[in-house]
Amino acid sequence: MTDVTMIGLGAMGSALARAFIGAGHSVTIWNRTAARMEPLVSLGATAASSPGDATKASPVTVVCIDNYDATRRLIDEAGMLEPLSGRTVVQFGTGTPAEARDLSNWLTARGVNVLDGAIMAYPSGIGAKDAKILLAGPAELYSSCKPILDCLGGDLRHVSEEIGAAAVLDMALLTFALSKHLGVWHGARACEAEGLGIDVFASMLPPYDPVANLAWRIHNADYDNPGATLEVWNAALDRIIQHADTAKINREVPELVSSLFRRAIALGHGNRDIATVIEVLRAG
Ligand SMILES: NC(=O)c1ccc[n+]([C@@H]2O[C@H](COP(=O)([O-])OP(=O)(O)OC[C@H]3O[C@@H](n4cnc5c(N)ncnc54)[C@H](OP(=O)(O)O)[C@@H]3O)[C@@H](O)[C@H]2O)c1
Repeated sequence: MTDVTMIGLGAMGSALARAFIGAGHSVTIWNRTAARMEPLVSLGATAASSPGDATKASPVTVVCIDNYDATRRLIDEAGMLEPLSGRTVVQFGTGTPAEARDLSNWLTARGVNVLDGAIMAYPSGIGAKDAKILLAGPAELYSSCKPILDCLGGDLRHVSEEIGAAAVLDMALLTFALSKHLGVWHGARACEAEGLGIDVFASMLPPYDPVANLAWRIHNADYDNPGATLEVWNAALDRIIQHADTAKINREVPELVSSLFRRAIALGHGNRDIATVIEVLRAG
């Protein structure tokens, strides 16, 4: 047996697995593309040959893949459901509160304990003192998982027993952050158009605010080391718009950011940093 199983080793899942290993937990891993397991095996993780075997190896399975649909399909079709009975899943993919509730209802009806999480940090920030990790679900379950999850960030919070609460806070905080990003893209372009360096603008933003870092990435054309790719951000925005539609909220705020993202993706920047949105503004 290991302490924790990590399923999904993309940018974020790999960072979570590294944090577990760094904290001294024994870790079993599985990823659809097997090559992504190798760097973690060299750090001490045990690679499982299937999602089912990975799930059997630990009392707690953390899942961090693209979205809830993919997570549910994986659990249902890849032999995870039976070994999960009586054990715990911590879900960290991004989605709507309704998706969190649907997945949780489906799993709890099959005897699985569920926490739904939202990670308010880039992979490089995992484990940092200010990394905010939100969890929703039964308080007792949160308390029992806390010793394992604590290493993921200094600001680990149980936000509610209502399973959709982490997802809605995730959407609210992402919308807030992206609204500030809009000002950085436009402000950087305005300075540039008047012959003023974007570095001058960047140096005037509060250094503790992640948007200052965005301005520096624009200044340095640092597009190819994304914490989350434009595609990953855009998938989160799609969920925010979907939620707005079902909750009958005017969708213009997320739609504005999404239209810029879609145009940046059409310019070929889907796997790059969101700093590339400046190229849409440069295109006029
Ligand atoms: N990156 C961030 O800064 C960040 C921050 C907060 C939350 N998140 C959330 O974390 C989740 C993952 O993001 P990421 O940045 O790690 O994305 P990523 O680098 O694109 O990795 C995606 C992961 O999902 C796996 N996957 C996708 N579809 C799958 C399927 N049908 N079956 C099995 N595995 C599947 C991929 O496996 P393969 O390797 O085989 O493709 C990969 O491990 C997303 O929901 C994202 O919104 C990310």
